[in-house]
Amino acid sequence: MCGIIGYSGHRPAVPVLVEGLRRLEYRGYDSAGVAYIENNELTLLRAEGKLSALESKVAGCSHHMATSGIGHTRWATHGVPVERNAHPHRDNSGELALIHNGIIENYQEQRQWLSERGYTFASETDTEVLVNLIAEGRKHTETLQKALSWALERVEGAYAIALMSIHEPGTIYAARQASPLVFGKGIGENFVASDIPAFLPYTREVVFLEDGEMVTLTPSSWEVCDARTLAPIEKEVHTITWDVQAAQKGGYKHFMLKEISEQPKVVADCLTGRVDAASKAVTLSELEGTTPPKRLHILACGTSYHAGLWGMNLIESWARIPVRVEIASEFRYRDLLLDEDDVVLAISQSGETADTLAGMRRAKEMGATVIGLCNVVGSSVSREADHVIYTQAGPEISVASTKALCSQMTLLLLLALHWGRQKGTLSAEVEERAVTGVMGIPGILEAELPRMRERAQELSRKYSASRSFMFLGRGLQFPLALEGALKLKEISYIHAEGYASGEMKHGPIALIDKEFPTFALALHDDLFPKVKSNLEEVQARDGRIIALTHPGLDIAAEDVWVIPEVWGPLNTFLVLPCLQLFSYEVADYLGKDVDQPRNLAKSVTVE
Ligand code: G6P
Repeated sequence: MCGIIGYSGHRPAVPVLVEGLRRLEYRGYDSAGVAYIENNELTLLRAEGKLSALESKVAGCSHHMATSGIGHTRWATHGVPVERNAHPHRDNSGELALIHNGIIENYQEQRQWLSERGYTFASETDTEVLVNLIAEGRKHTETLQKALSWALERVEGAYAIALMSIHEPGTIYAARQASPLVFGKGIGENFVASDIPAFLPYTREVVFLEDGEMVTLTPSSWEVCDARTLAPIEKEVHTITWDVQAAQKGGYKHFMLKEISEQPKVVADCLTGRVDAASKAVTLSELEGTTPPKRLHILACGTSYHAGLWGMNLIESWARIPVRVEIASEFRYRDLLLDEDDVVLAISQSGETADTLAGMRRAKEMGATVIGLCNVVGSSVSREADHVIYTQAGPEISVASTKALCSQMTLLLLLALHWGRQKGTLSAEVEERAVTGVMGIPGILEAELPRMRERAQELSRKYSASRSFMFLGRGLQFPLALEGALKLKEISYIHAEGYASGEMKHGPIALIDKEFPTFALALHDDLFPKVKSNLEEVQARDGRIIALTHPGLDIAAEDVWVIPEVWGPLNTFLVLPCLQLFSYEVADYLGKDVDQPRNLAKSVTVE
């Protein structure tokens, strides 16, 4: 999982590439590099570590005359994260440079084949194999484009690549198979990248490339063709409406904090055009002409999986549709029981998560209908699903997902209302309360967020020395307990477990002592008496408790955190920012790299 960018135009290329990589760093950040041609020389600059290391190298080199080049930020898949494995990679002749996001699965076999023909390798990467395979292809074909096609026919796996040659300065060839790639059409300059923000300061005109497509670009021309036959393909140019500003920090210390704070607007944006304030009707135009599913399978990873678990409760309760929620990496390899009556809802912020995509492809093959619920417009999930619902949360940059979950929950609530209304299983009272209630959430959240942050800050000071944490919740709060634990471990590296409160007694309670605090979601609902007794069990073992609760509830805890009560399931929208802010404050207090936690990447486009 890496970020790639290619540029050919009239500006000095290296600053454009480095700036683009900065906006792609969320895709991986263990090493980075650029390649450019100046004075008939193909130069590679690569550095281990974060982008700043590459920037220092770039500052000490001459590159001002180069007006085309390629750049890469890496998240290691093959080979340890050191400079020799960083991209770009060169072929043996030193004439070609290649960047790659993905995994070439048969690279060992190809490496062996090339070694037998005298090729040597300076790195352990699959990418160096591919660039040499292209060089070999050049011996069997008349043009570099044909050589690229020749090589791609021989590799299996996933890739988004960009290639340049000393013999064709100003021309970049790029292709994709199961890894994201977009082309940016400028004036007198053209771009290709893993994601739009990489080139958004320069152009809003984009073309989404599909699997099996290749684009050839120069400063003044671009052409998309079939990577195998090289037959030209007509592509639609889309205009992006959001701006780079939306992808910047906007005065916040971290993107994560900014994104948590954006949640009132996120809920409001999700409702815009979907909920009619006067009639309280929910319209999901994306599903126009469709009927509610007989069975629903929700497919997702990470935080999006938690959204699915939460949504299952509402869809089963309001629309009476049986729902299974599945971790995509498990689903894709199971002996599935699916047919035309099944609907798969693939939830993915990025729309590029490899496991989710593979799961939905299998479901489609078996005849199921796929609905994509995703945030990134034009992403693979959105393009491959039969129907797509966009969460409209805007770009999420921090690796730890926050506002995307809030938007997914909003849309799942609307889906449950939509299907419940269609099936006639939804009572008018629930519909009225849910719709009125959710419309009030942005205002309540806006007012509460500063207080929540203060309380999170106080508690973070007190608890940040803990080595482990338990998060407990029941019913609709159980997925939130899982999410609270995931957030804490992702960004502060404190071990945390999310558990269903009632399951505590079947094992985890053995861990509880003074050193192992519990963060309990003890809200005013039918299950409160049960949660209360679960917490008494924790206290009886000297466990320290933070209880997130509602006014007027009698609960014994070392720290009580009271938040306003709203109607039923909507309480989750207030619990979520508390958990996010608690993790954020702990991680920030501990001096961790909040937006780019170690070993993680925003968009996991490999298995
Ligand atoms: C990565 C991210 C998580 C995210 C998960 C699923 O692991 O670090 O924050 O929840 O992928 O991503 P998706 O884009 O499919 O929602």
